[in-house]
Amino acid sequence: MEDLIEDEATFYSKAELYWKEVNPTVDGMLGGYGSISSIDINGSKKFLYKFLGEGPGKTGTGCALDCGAGIGRITKRLLLPLFRTVDLVDVTQEFLDKAKTYLGEEAKRVGNYFCCGLQDFHPQAGRYDVIWIQWVIGHLTDDHLVEFLRRCRSSLRPDGLIVIKDNVSYEGVVPDHVDSSMCRDLPLLRQIVARAGLTILCEEQQQNFPEEIYQVHTLALR
Ligand SMILES: C[S@@+](CC[C@H](N)C(=O)[O-])C[C@H]1O[C@@H](n2cnc3c(N)ncnc32)[C@H](O)[C@@H]1O
Repeated sequence: MEDLIEDEATFYSKAELYWKEVNPTVDGMLGGYGSISSIDINGSKKFLYKFLGEGPGKTGTGCALDCGAGIGRITKRLLLPLFRTVDLVDVTQEFLDKAKTYLGEEAKRVGNYFCCGLQDFHPQAGRYDVIWIQWVIGHLTDDHLVEFLRRCRSSLRPDGLIVIKDNVSYEGVVPDHVDSSMCRDLPLLRQIVARAGLTILCEEQQQNFPEEIYQVHTLALR
């Protein structure tokens, strides 16, 4: 994918400028597909439930990190109902500002709002039970994504889990010149995961999304 990016600094700054102009709403987070948010969240809940609970190998429910969190759409409906504390990280300050009101009363259980690009973000070692990374990996170069996933691995608690949920292309890397991102195919994504030293525990395709959008896959990693 690096060969498709002419200039790394421009790749990142164009994305930042793009998101600064987007409305801080659920519809804005989902590129006009706000109506699929409930299907998405319900699919994620079902997926995550498989790993949570008591007993050997089960993932704890103390603290989660929402990566590329935007206004906190996932934090509000998936993570805060399941975890005692949730941290948010996003490159767009305006979205994190909006999250403080969008999350309502439950915002009091947010630990930190980090305004930072994931390519520069160093999550605290050993802090998280679950690191949720949705609809943002296309904004990172392959090398930066590998390095970020490695840092995520070090920031997991015992039996912690990293979840990537994102668009996948049918074949190869498909650039989006509007929001300055790239859509990868599954073999490339799996290769990146392996380079980061992570194992895929489970992989699923999200069902019941509109036909005209990319397939969305969810991967549980540790
Ligand atoms: C498609 S939205 C998804 C938001 C959220 N994950 C959701 O599903 O509702 C992409 C988000 O990624 C953020 N973003 C873009 N590039 C980023 C980067 N390099 N690091 C962190 N966040 C980034 C944008 O500000 C935006 O909030």
